[in-house]
Amino acid sequence: MSTTFTLDTSTSRATPVAAPMKRLTVPAVRRRKAEIAGGTGEPLVMLTAYTVRTAQLLDPHCDLLLVGDSLGQVVYGLPSTVPVTLEMMAAHGAAVVRGSYHAVVVIDMPFGSYEASPEQAFGSAARLLKETGAAAVKMEGGAAMAPTVAFLTERGIPVMGHVGLTPQAVNMLGGYGARGRAPEEAAKIVDDAQAIARAGAFSLVVEGVVEPVALTITRSIDCPTIGIGASAQCDGQVLVAEDMLGMFERVPRFVKRFDDLGARIGAAAQTYAADVRSRAFPGPEQVYAPKA
Ligand code: KIV
Repeated sequence: MSTTFTLDTSTSRATPVAAPMKRLTVPAVRRRKAEIAGGTGEPLVMLTAYTVRTAQLLDPHCDLLLVGDSLGQVVYGLPSTVPVTLEMMAAHGAAVVRGSYHAVVVIDMPFGSYEASPEQAFGSAARLLKETGAAAVKMEGGAAMAPTVAFLTERGIPVMGHVGLTPQAVNMLGGYGARGRAPEEAAKIVDDAQAIARAGAFSLVVEGVVEPVALTITRSIDCPTIGIGASAQCDGQVLVAEDMLGMFERVPRFVKRFDDLGARIGAAAQTYAADVRSRAFPGPEQVYAPKA
């Protein structure tokens, strides 16, 4: 499967992307750690994307696009990420690759597709990369997942780790609160991060931890950390795009809204509805005249 796609604009609504440029690579992302330490690198920018059009809009501004399993809640209205399937991740992953030409596309391994054994993880990850054209997978978990991270990276599959608040473990954690408030838990999260980094992860999402934990991890591992609810001193940041665009009423502490798109979409739909009901839409510009 090619990662460069040409859209047929006569049949597709999707806006064609500009002339393809060279995609950023996994090694370039990993190198950013040293560049930041040396004062020559900027923090990594990552956002989630689930659809081709969102990918097209976000891609020019991002180093990485994450096809997060948060799509279970954001796109499908599921109660958590637990029910998300490999099929869902493959379908959305392929759409995001088709809509991007610059960012490294990373796809979340859904719950149940990788935890049983390194072999199970390899099969799932290989399927995702083959069916989508994405460059890497992300998996949640600490030291227990380190052998799996090593198994995949040694076989050519780049892995982004994910420690701290790991939403797939919501049933064990009992909720989505910040982690690492107690010293023992803080030490465990740092150990987890170091084990995943040592196993060969090319980058590590650090989610929902008290700031000192994020700082200790960032200073002690040799791949870039990407924070969410962590610290501005991480080597990069990620947010769910719909959160930062203001699509939801609830704004968790770690989210900054950069727009109020939910309200703007509602207002546009209200104006459309009023125009339809008053027969102001369609106007003369939107109807077809017969040939003169
Ligand atoms: O699924 C997701 O969107 C994520 C990010 C929040 C890091 O894992």
